[in-house]
Amino acid sequence: MQNKKIEIGYRQFDNLAELEVSDQNLINRALEACKTAYAPYSNFPVGAAVLLDSGEIFIGNNQENISFPAGTCAERTLLNFVHANFPEKKILTMAITATNSHSHNPVTPCGVCRQVMVEMEREQDTDYRVLLHKPGGSTIEFSGANQLLPLAFEDKLKK
Ligand code: THU
Repeated sequence: MQNKKIEIGYRQFDNLAELEVSDQNLINRALEACKTAYAPYSNFPVGAAVLLDSGEIFIGNNQENISFPAGTCAERTLLNFVHANFPEKKILTMAITATNSHSHNPVTPCGVCRQVMVEMEREQDTDYRVLLHKPGGSTIEFSGANQLLPLAFEDKLKK
């Protein structure tokens, strides 16, 4: 028997101004995306934005449904769109935020979204940075989506 430990490293920025301008810009796009979220049931708008290696930025948000399980989180709305339309392009950075959260901390993606985020990362063969932002507060940065889901489900059939 061996005892093992998994450590997750991340960086924390107390103010938006501490971040690179390009990251501030991406976070601002995610904040903007919250405005068009369709979240009448939860009143919890979530916005996400990705920067691709082409320099393009795309945004997504949560899209709820009266049949609750039919709703989609912001992260998957965005990643599925990007993968459907630009399968050859790579994601460099993803920013996620929520404008009506009661928590003092940045919103963190749900487990299902983390699994999808990791699959996109494996698919493109390179890690992408993830920025989680609390409006008016701190931002935490992960070097890869895999950092958010250690021991993610995988199988040898897939690279
Ligand atoms: N939500 C997201 O969009 N992303 C997450 O990672 C967690 C939750 C959405 C789903 C639902 O529309 C609302 O937030 C409340 O759970």
